[in-house]
Amino acid sequence: MPDLAVIVLAAGQGTRMKSSTPKVLHRLGGLPLIHHVLESARALDPQHLLVVVRHDRDTVAASVLEVAPHAQLVDQDDEPGTGRAVQQAVAALPDEFEGDVVVVSADVPFVDHGTLNALLDQHRSDQVEVTLLSAVVQDPTGYGRVIRKADDTVSKIVEQKDASADELEVAEINSGTYAFTVAALRTHLSFITSANSQNEKYLTDVVGLVTINGGTATAKTVDEPWRIEGVNDRAQLAAAARRLNDRIVRHWQLEGVTILDPQTTWIDRDVSLAADVEILPGTQLKGATVIETGAVVGPDTTLVDTEVGEGAIVKRTDATLAVIGAHANVGPFSFLRPGTILGADGKIGAFVETKNATIGEGSKVPHLSYIGDAEIGVGSNLGAGTITANYDGVEKHRTEVGSYVKMGSHNVYVAPVRIGDGAASGAGAVIRKDVPAGSLALSVAPQRTITGWTEAKRPGSPGAEAAKAARERESEGE
Ligand code: UD1
Ligand code: CA
Repeated sequence: MPDLAVIVLAAGQGTRMKSSTPKVLHRLGGLPLIHHVLESARALDPQHLLVVVRHDRDTVAASVLEVAPHAQLVDQDDEPGTGRAVQQAVAALPDEFEGDVVVVSADVPFVDHGTLNALLDQHRSDQVEVTLLSAVVQDPTGYGRVIRKADDTVSKIVEQKDASADELEVAEINSGTYAFTVAALRTHLSFITSANSQNEKYLTDVVGLVTINGGTATAKTVDEPWRIEGVNDRAQLAAAARRLNDRIVRHWQLEGVTILDPQTTWIDRDVSLAADVEILPGTQLKGATVIETGAVVGPDTTLVDTEVGEGAIVKRTDATLAVIGAHANVGPFSFLRPGTILGADGKIGAFVETKNATIGEGSKVPHLSYIGDAEIGVGSNLGAGTITANYDGVEKHRTEVGSYVKMGSHNVYVAPVRIGDGAASGAGAVIRKDVPAGSLALSVAPQRTITGWTEAKRPGSPGAEAAKAARERESEGE
């Protein structure tokens, strides 16, 4: 088998995105566009993986090295065009390299490993100079057109902006994915010019140069045209995202996940779902979120890098980097910030915000609370409206709550503070000092009641009238 080099083109500016983020770093299914392409490229197991960079070079390079640490970065100079990009990448290959070169564009995310493999297989068995991946599409606007010869081999590729009226009628498009012999690239790349409407060195011109000089170019046509759709602007990005999401949703449905409304359910590519998970409408599962069997998530829930245990219920919730235990109950309207760990059978209820907080097995924070920088043992119950005052304006402090604690409503725990096992507190307590195990903490002054106050101080008011009526009813009853 000849050696293989893969060149990923990622130096372009992505002008049509109108973005300060380089195009190839825009996300699709939670991953930068270029990661999709690098994954397919790496699966070919090439001896050389080269990535051509220029615009926002360092950011793109860092993202490449995240998933392809052994990739060789090639810096494109200020001559624009895909032809220039490949020329510089080929120059970076060792002189003794004599194999095939697969070229892929970082903005064509759905060309998978199987498709690349089939392209390379055909290229090698046909023994031609170049094989390009093409598709016949309904709307070829914007793509290079594949011009065939009478014998059905390819004669050349014409870019949309340089095409004649007849050529524009051609519905077969160039995907920007090719297999070349390195010899063909070395021979012809130095002859391409930027004498075209975009003043760029087109890689596509190599195809015409090969055939004019007696070589052969062929095309492998994909059966699923969407596989080679490029992403050049935000509308194409949204269309690609929808397409990928439809496939991901369908994949999980076939794996036994109930997804009630595929249209409003968005699942990132690296999410993992067990059988018999149920996803309700309006749910977004992002990053490396994992959901175990029997859990019901949604409606209107966003989980980012979050783990949901078996049989848990997570309703109208926003969670990031959180762990929700088996059979736990979260929501509605809960906000779980990074570092929230809820134990099995635990509860984080309505209008509760948590951050960097471990809430033990069976413990409950049911209503209207903020629990941050805290550790709560097992079987404890925090009253409605509990606040951990974790921030003194300068530093954050921790709150430690033991097990089987029963704290009253509307408590403030002024951190750093510890509440021992089996402790309790009254309503409205402000816990500034540690509460030893088994103690009851009360911090509110005893209630003082001044009878007859309303009638005396607010005479004639509706309250005073109501108080008077109540007093009269009471004395009649006596
Ligand atoms: C290119 C093809 C076109 C094909 C289409 C498929 C050329 C001349 N045209 O057009 O035939 O139908 O892809 O999607 O190749 N890049 C560089 N350096 C550059 C310019 C671009 O590395 O100087 C990279 C870009 O980052 C991008 C890829 O090459 O990943 C394609 O560039 P783009 O400008 O999007 O080409 P298209 O106009 O889409
Ligand atoms: Ca493109």
